[in-house]
Amino acid sequence: MKAREFAPGIFSVGVVDWDRRLFDSLIPLPDGTSYNAYLIKGSEKTALIDTVDHKMPEILLDNLDLLGIKRLDYVISNHSEPDHSGAIPHVLAKYPEALVICTPKAKDLLTDLFHLAPEKFKTVNDLETLSLGDRTLEFIYAPWVHWPETMLTYLREDKILFPCDFFGSHIATTDLYVTDEGRVYEAAKRYYAEIMMPFRAQIKNNLEKIKGYEFELIAPSHGPMYGEPDFIINAYHEWVYDEPKNVVVIPYISMHGSTKKMVDYLVSSLAVNGVTVEQFDMSVVDTGKMAMALVDAGTIVIGTPTVMIGPHPLIAYAAFLANALKPKAKFASIIGSYGWGTKAVDTIVGLVPNLKVEIIPPVICKGQPRDIDYQALEKLAETIVQKHKDAGFVEKAE
Ligand code: FEO
Repeated sequence: MKAREFAPGIFSVGVVDWDRRLFDSLIPLPDGTSYNAYLIKGSEKTALIDTVDHKMPEILLDNLDLLGIKRLDYVISNHSEPDHSGAIPHVLAKYPEALVICTPKAKDLLTDLFHLAPEKFKTVNDLETLSLGDRTLEFIYAPWVHWPETMLTYLREDKILFPCDFFGSHIATTDLYVTDEGRVYEAAKRYYAEIMMPFRAQIKNNLEKIKGYEFELIAPSHGPMYGEPDFIINAYHEWVYDEPKNVVVIPYISMHGSTKKMVDYLVSSLAVNGVTVEQFDMSVVDTGKMAMALVDAGTIVIGTPTVMIGPHPLIAYAAFLANALKPKAKFASIIGSYGWGTKAVDTIVGLVPNLKVEIIPPVICKGQPRDIDYQALEKLAETIVQKHKDAGFVEKAE
């Protein structure tokens, strides 16, 4: 995408990656993504906020050429992950006078990743400022969004926040600004679930830290910019602070149909009692959608057959993911079937130490479920309904 000026002397110079379908060889990108970089011209100095993915440096460099940039004073590195820092060596090769501005932790990481010389860096303290002449950059430490070294950059005079990953969304679009709030809400929630949710406590601290600032624009490094910053700040508050909703998430696998019958029965029993249920067949799942559902889940029920005494391997994967993502669910249970012996429940419970959940007694049947098993599932549904009521979980908004 060609450079675009969206405020006097401030340009979007990054890359839209329309075709990328996987991030970290793990995270599905159904709508592609972007690596946003921003150029700020001050009366005395020029700064580049973040760079782009290491696979696409030439688009950024071409944009700097297009704008006639002959001298670059600073490369602000808010976050060291290579989708934003990967083009730093290319930028420094073109503009050898430029200094990389970052936190001390980021300096260590960037040195390890790109073997940059120490004299290429200027580290900054929390809340330190840097003058560009008539413009001032303020650096706000914001650790663990989602690496330890992260910071945000605030352009004081223009009231623009450049938060890199924080508030981002994986969307490839020609729109500079959010135009379709519903679409961006979903993409930003997916992004939060996959990337930020494990660090919810730190995200909370960072939201508190930026409370006193006035924003006219939030310009993240993935997805469109927020011309109405309250939209995304309020969404983050909902995801981070609010209690879970009256939602049950059921990742499951069924090999010969027994576990599926149990899942279907439980889903129906919960639904008729007003619980929203999201079920995910782990053999075909979009893990991003499952992660998004986990943001709201009050209860997680894992459905698995027994394979070689333990849970199905794809269910072990689901449990591993849920444990890593640390959703705020308060309850969990396990349902499923086995042929001649099982330790699936113990194995699954052992896989989720990070989940601060009360385990509701599992329902495990031998072979195809019988009446007694359906009765146990009915009881499980009643227990979940009651626990959600007692915990005060709110209804999911339509
Ligand atoms: Fe978009 Fe953590 O990199």
